[in-house]
Amino acid sequence: MALFIGGDLGTSALKLLLVDEKGKILKTVSEEYSLSFPHPGWSEQNPADWWKALVKGIEDLVSPEEINLVKGIAIDGQMHGLVALDEKGQVIRPAILWNDGRTIEEVDYLNKKIGKENLIKETGNIAYAGFTAPKILWMKKNEPELFKKIAHIMLPKDYLVYKLTGKFATEYSDAAGTLLLDVNHKQWSEKMLSICGVDKKSLPKIYESGEIVATLNEETAKLLKLTDKTFVCAGAADNAAAALGVGAIESGDANISLGTSGTIFVDSDKFTFDPNGAIHAFNSASGDYCLLACMLSAASCLKWLNETILETEDYQKEQKAIKDENLGKNHVFFLPYLMGERSPINNPEARGLFIGLTMDTSRADMTQAVLEGVAFALKDSLMAAKKIGVTVKESCLTGGGSKSVLWRQILADILDLKLDIVGDQYGPAYGMAMMAMVAGGIFKNMKEAKKALIQVKETIVPDKEKVKLYEERYEQFVNIYPAVKELYQHIK
Ligand code: XUL
Repeated sequence: MALFIGGDLGTSALKLLLVDEKGKILKTVSEEYSLSFPHPGWSEQNPADWWKALVKGIEDLVSPEEINLVKGIAIDGQMHGLVALDEKGQVIRPAILWNDGRTIEEVDYLNKKIGKENLIKETGNIAYAGFTAPKILWMKKNEPELFKKIAHIMLPKDYLVYKLTGKFATEYSDAAGTLLLDVNHKQWSEKMLSICGVDKKSLPKIYESGEIVATLNEETAKLLKLTDKTFVCAGAADNAAAALGVGAIESGDANISLGTSGTIFVDSDKFTFDPNGAIHAFNSASGDYCLLACMLSAASCLKWLNETILETEDYQKEQKAIKDENLGKNHVFFLPYLMGERSPINNPEARGLFIGLTMDTSRADMTQAVLEGVAFALKDSLMAAKKIGVTVKESCLTGGGSKSVLWRQILADILDLKLDIVGDQYGPAYGMAMMAMVAGGIFKNMKEAKKALIQVKETIVPDKEKVKLYEERYEQFVNIYPAVKELYQHIK
């Protein structure tokens, strides 16, 4: 009997699951940690909290009888975060996360002075505030003393691999989001390293996602009470891992995730990029390339509305108050840019907005506007993909937000897309468990693992009448951002 651990280092929690060699989930645990916003638009986390969550999580996940049975671990993580260590392997400053918008000047420098075309040529992408390279430039300018101490640069889940094995390792799907990788040719871009003042020696070795980096080092094995024969895979970026977890591993396969961020992932066997810079060109964890559109606040908009504004945790009650006859007819619109926005508008200064409020606007109308606003913003990305010839005809749907039956249907109707709900909805962590099983020899490859383990549980079919109504609403939605865009620079 062999057991495997799949993990997902998310923005709000580390989720771990233990599977047997048949891919059956034996246990899941989730360890939360906090997110800090030291200034409006900034977003940081302490890597020590991730490690604490992993140690505690493994302790809760694996019983003493199972210890010797755990063969391998694979963990994916939130992308783009800058984790900087000194030469002793100590964290220099809190990690600057994917949804941090402090690098407006650096992004301007990269996109305007270095030039979008040059960046695309070097990396496949333009600069976005959340990407790692502008954060390195920010540190260089604003924290020169700390910058000088940098001996190792890595991404969030790579920090866990380092703590587990003592090795500095990354893999292509996550390295792609640094803006330091030549995504097409799968190598660090010397030009980008020189632009950012990064010494190549400070970057980790790049593996394929499913490659084994090493086994646990002795000390860590003791701490985790696992055997030092347990192997650790390089892992993956969370969106690439989610794609594995739903079986989106062949060219054209798509996955939409309604998590803290909202993403549209499309696998491609050929390198494709967006000359307009609205959508990212990355590597997938299956060995292919992918296009990824990322909106910064998706399910987190609903969390904000319910928990911060309405001070309720009863999401269901709020959504039950929305009347079916009001779907597609809401007079309230919501722009979901609570952390600025990445795809497709690339504006870290954009902010959230309700518009269309009247005296008869109800709490339910505003909740509905949030659900619809997120879906409309995802449609913006789908339209940007269409512009470069990528048409998504059907997609899987994952992420916490997809648990809402109402939100799933609204999304299917607004995107006019059939949405498949797959398996037990452990998306990224399950993708990692599958990858560890492949690395452990249980399956020959991901295709075989997919065939054995992935089943569509439910398909959400667009309601043709609602699709029509939402097309009309979308025509109105698309006018809102351009009309207020200029105002954002003055609202600080
Ligand atoms: C993708 C992105 C987010 C994070 C956090 O580009 O920034 O999806 O990976 O989930």
